[in-house]
Amino acid sequence: MSKAPSPGAGPAAAGTEELTDRFSREFGGRPDGVWQAPGRVNLIGEHTDYNEGFVLPFAIDRTARVAVAARPDSTVRLLSTYGDQGVVTASVESLQPGTAKGWTKYPLGVMWALRERGIDVPGVDLLLDSNVPLGAGLSSSHAIECAVISALNDLTGAGLEAEDMVLATQRAENDFVGAPTGIMDQSASLRGSKGHAVFLDCRNQEASLVPFETEPAGLVLLVIDTKVSHSHADGGYASRRASCELGAEVLGVKALRDVEVGDLEEASGLLDEVTFRRVRHVVTENDRVLQTVELLGSQGPSAIGRLLDASHASMRDDFEISCPELDLAVDTARASGAIGARMTGGGFGGAAIALTPVDAAQKVRDTVAKAFSDAGFAAPDIFAVSPAAGAMRIA
Ligand code: GLA
Repeated sequence: MSKAPSPGAGPAAAGTEELTDRFSREFGGRPDGVWQAPGRVNLIGEHTDYNEGFVLPFAIDRTARVAVAARPDSTVRLLSTYGDQGVVTASVESLQPGTAKGWTKYPLGVMWALRERGIDVPGVDLLLDSNVPLGAGLSSSHAIECAVISALNDLTGAGLEAEDMVLATQRAENDFVGAPTGIMDQSASLRGSKGHAVFLDCRNQEASLVPFETEPAGLVLLVIDTKVSHSHADGGYASRRASCELGAEVLGVKALRDVEVGDLEEASGLLDEVTFRRVRHVVTENDRVLQTVELLGSQGPSAIGRLLDASHASMRDDFEISCPELDLAVDTARASGAIGARMTGGGFGGAAIALTPVDAAQKVRDTVAKAFSDAGFAAPDIFAVSPAAGAMRIA
C-alpha cells in the first residue's frame, strides 16, 4: 500500500446514516448507495506478491466507506470527513497520472484505471470516511480504492470479478499514484471473510480461505502501530522490487517464485551478496507461507509463532526493510509473552503484529509502550484485530 496522505482518521467510522446525511448536506440529494472496504493485516508472505509467490493476509474490521451518487455529466466532486481539503473537483474525462493530490489520488486513480479498461465511468459525487489508520501499514489506500471500485462496479453495471478489480486497483496504484506495489492488499480487502485469512497464489490469483481464529486457541493478534510513517511511492520499496527482478533475471527464471529453498546454495554463487540476500528472503518467505497454511490446518494458530519470528528476522537481516521501532516492537513483544511477532506490510515503518496468549496481552501492551517511551520513540498504538469481512455494499 501507499500511505493515504491526510491527517489521521478517527477510531470509529461514521454510521451509514450519518454519512448519508452528510452527503445530502454537502452535495444535495441522496447517494445511490454506500460501499465499504477494509484495511488488511498480512499474517505472513511479505514482498512475495510481485514475485508471483504466496501471501496470507486477512481483512480487518477497520474500513473505508464511500457514499456515491452517479452524475449526469463528467464532473467529479470528492470530499472526505477527515482532512481539511474541502470539496475537490475534477473531470472524469481528463484524468491524468500525476495530477491528483492527497487522498483524492485513490478514487481518481480507480476511475482512471477503469476508463483505461474501456469502462464508461460517469462523473460522481463521493463522500469518503475511513477508520483505517493512515500510513500504519494496514493498507488505508487500498481500502479507499476497493470501496470506490466496488461502488463503480455496481453503478456502471460493469460486472467485474474480483480478479479484474484487483488488477484495476493495482493499475491505479502503479500508474496513477506511482507506487509499484503488488496485488496482496486489494486481494485481502476484496476477498476477505470473517474468521479467515486469504491464501493467495499471486501467479494466477487462485485464492482460498484458510480458517484463522485466535480466540479458540486462547490467543489474540495484536497490531503495534509504530507511528513511523512510510510511503511505497518512495524509493525503498521500488529498490527492493528491482533487486528481485535482477535476481530472477540472473537466475534465468520468470519470477523468484520459481526458485526453491534447495536452489539457494547454487544461487549464492551466481548473485552478488546483496541481491542474494534479497532473493533468499523471498524464497524462504514463500516457503514459510506454505508451512503456515499447513500448520494452521493441522495444528491451529498456536503452531505458527516460530514462522512469524523467522519472517521478521529475514526482513530485518536479508531484505533490510525493518526499522528500529519495528525491531523494538517485535523483540519486546516476544520477550514479554508473545509466541511470535513480525513486522507486517511493505516495511520502512508501519505496524508489527504479535501473536499473544490472551492472558499475556496486557503485559505485552504495557511493556511495548514502556520500551517505546524509554527509547524516546513516539507512543505506539496497540490494538487487537481478527479477520473480518471483505468489501461490500452496505446501503
Ligand atoms: C505493500 C504492497 C503489497 C506488498 C507488501 C509487501 O503492502 O502494497 O503489494 O508488496 O507491501 O508484502
